[in-house]
Amino acid sequence: MSSYLKYLGSVIFVCVYMLQGCKQPLNTFTPGELWPDNNGVHINAHGGGMLVHDEVYYWFGEHKIEGKAGNKAHVGVHCYSSNDLYNWQDEGIALSAVDDTTSLIDKGCIIERPKVIYNAKNKQFVMWFHHELKGMGYKAAMTGVAVSDKVTGPYTYLKSVNPNKGYWPANFTDSLKHIAVNMDTIKQWSAPWQKEVVDGAWLRRDMEKGQMARDMTLFVDDDGTAYHIHSSEENSTLHIAQLSDDYMSFTGKYVRVLEGQMNEAPAIFKRGDKYYMISSGCSGWKPNPARSAVTDHPMGPWTELGNPCRGTDEEINSTFKSQSTYVLPVQGENDTYIYMGDRWTPENAIDGRYIWLPIEFEDEKPIIRWNDEWSLRE
Ligand code: GAL
Repeated sequence: MSSYLKYLGSVIFVCVYMLQGCKQPLNTFTPGELWPDNNGVHINAHGGGMLVHDEVYYWFGEHKIEGKAGNKAHVGVHCYSSNDLYNWQDEGIALSAVDDTTSLIDKGCIIERPKVIYNAKNKQFVMWFHHELKGMGYKAAMTGVAVSDKVTGPYTYLKSVNPNKGYWPANFTDSLKHIAVNMDTIKQWSAPWQKEVVDGAWLRRDMEKGQMARDMTLFVDDDGTAYHIHSSEENSTLHIAQLSDDYMSFTGKYVRVLEGQMNEAPAIFKRGDKYYMISSGCSGWKPNPARSAVTDHPMGPWTELGNPCRGTDEEINSTFKSQSTYVLPVQGENDTYIYMGDRWTPENAIDGRYIWLPIEFEDEKPIIRWNDEWSLRE
């Protein structure tokens, strides 16, 4: 070959390489590092969740912008797709925050931890997310719902609610339903919570208005029943609530779980006949020790299994500097689950990193260990 043809060949190669964003496909996970999408841009899907549809993974998460402003919703919920979990294609904004002061999803509100599930009955994708109203901090404690006929959206926002208004939890004893408590004596944010809180002081307070719903996740069981799991009662207690057949509302059937234990960031998955939960404690953007729990049925009773993390004290006490958001059962792999966590950077929200680590089982308990670089094929 003439040197001219050789030169032309390498120019074409470099051009094609550059057109592909100068990237080799990724084939490992590198927790905590920048994670470029197909355009070479760090993935922007924080507090995310995963939907597997037609054998494709869809990752939905909070789109953050730069600086502290990024802790509020200025753009909406971002969606990415992947066939292999390492390489992600930007599918754009699935649910948009809007420039409209009459809308509850007005830019500047808070949209966190979006999760999407597929409703086979209506052939619809249903997204729920923790929703705080603009200008009200974290006071509203609502959950919002949006739907789309197409997995990547656009999703149409329907409503936000404080769930299960007027309904008692299925596991709440009659004797506790009508206790009068002087609410002035209830301490805010003081774990371990006093007996009155464990006994439902805030649950009773919110019976008329509807219950608080902050950090949340969704879980669809094998029989198609969907559950909305959220931190309620001033974050002291988790509620696990059944969704309606169309997944668009609450049925009024729910339970209180791990009462007074202050669980946030719940992530639920099924392994064999058991359901597991990974969650965090309650320390805002700062990491804290993770927890785990197990049950025979999503509605409980749940049994605590302790901190699933193994490693140095710092790793164990900070969950590898992360907070859970989802646990992904890997398709086509036997007994393979990925812990998905967020390493928040509230000073520059867009820089938040993703901590994905394999979950192993020891003595029927989920265990998470640090790994700088790993793949599903190890
Ligand atoms: C965390 C929660 C995040 C976000 C943050 C705000 O505890 O898990 O989703 O709400 O608090 O401080």
